[in-house]
Amino acid sequence: MPVHRRPSWRLPESDATPEQAVLAHGEARRANPSRRAILGGAAGLGIAAAAGGYAAFAQGRDPMGWWDAQAGNDPTKPLYPAARNDRFALDRPLTEPREAVTYNNFYEFGSHKGIWQAAQRLETRPWTVTIDGLVPNPRTVDIDTLIKLFPLEERLYRFRCVEAWAMAVPWTGFPLASLIRWAEPQAGAKYVVFQTFQNPAIAPGFRQTWYPWPYTDSFTIEECGNELAFLATGVYGKPLPPQMGSPIRPITPWKYGFKQPKSITRISFVAERPVGYWEKLQPSEYGFWANVNPEVPHPRWSQASERMLGTGERRPTMIWNGYGEQVADLYRGLERERLFA
Ligand code: MTE
Repeated sequence: MPVHRRPSWRLPESDATPEQAVLAHGEARRANPSRRAILGGAAGLGIAAAAGGYAAFAQGRDPMGWWDAQAGNDPTKPLYPAARNDRFALDRPLTEPREAVTYNNFYEFGSHKGIWQAAQRLETRPWTVTIDGLVPNPRTVDIDTLIKLFPLEERLYRFRCVEAWAMAVPWTGFPLASLIRWAEPQAGAKYVVFQTFQNPAIAPGFRQTWYPWPYTDSFTIEECGNELAFLATGVYGKPLPPQMGSPIRPITPWKYGFKQPKSITRISFVAERPVGYWEKLQPSEYGFWANVNPEVPHPRWSQASERMLGTGERRPTMIWNGYGEQVADLYRGLERERLFA
């Protein structure tokens, strides 16, 4: 995934993470556990210092304990677990929660997979989401008010990163189409842009000025209306942990994961096709549509198979990530577009 625009002389030795080394070979594999433990411990120490206590550090070493504590304080806690919508079932076992919450891409907190501890600095309350652009009533809404507008449900989805790792997770949230209807976009609104929070005081990634912050990406309004498009507020029956995009993020399971910005603070309805974060950084590698396809390799690695987080099982990649029945119609007549990058 990572691409670095700055000249190589600006890349300090300490920035050369295992991830970048692995990516040079074409796939982002799990970093070796001992190295991760060391990185994790260092990050934990940083957090302990910030929180000013040993208790926080002890808790910081246990991702599940930390998450339970957060979930216990979340104002939307009574809404979990939400009823499962059985129409969205899986062909594979769910990924172990511990794996999903400790192997993350969240460049605002670092460009390696072990950012879960650093991401705990993200304060998700108070939190607002601004809805603007081509809507009759632009507004900024408190997240708890927003979440309570729509009934929550649980759906089991496949999730595929462009780096060729994959997971299977139970998201909680509500259909993106419900929010679009509620926002009542004007006729000229053709695309919907999702923008991540931006706070350099808590997230060191913002100091890396060669990245095009804030993280954004977008979909066509038709894609947002697809029954699979979802706004996730939780996972594994609990509110999302910060490292997975708390308090809210879009999920479009037939697309690569980079299309799905975490911890969003703005949803904008626009007329022209926007250029997202990764497309800005490296247009030859990352495009607007980014639909999953085993037959279209990333320029630096194959997409023919995927590695499941946790088990390491290799599975053949499925076109549209297995969701062709629901989404292929969205792309009829667009065959000349770069649909799969
Ligand atoms: N959103 C933000 N704000 N920052 C990021 O770096 N990474 C993306 C996406 N959303 C990213 C982001 C990528 S590349 C992937 S694969 C998924 O988040 C990973 O989601 P996960 O960590 O919850 O599995």
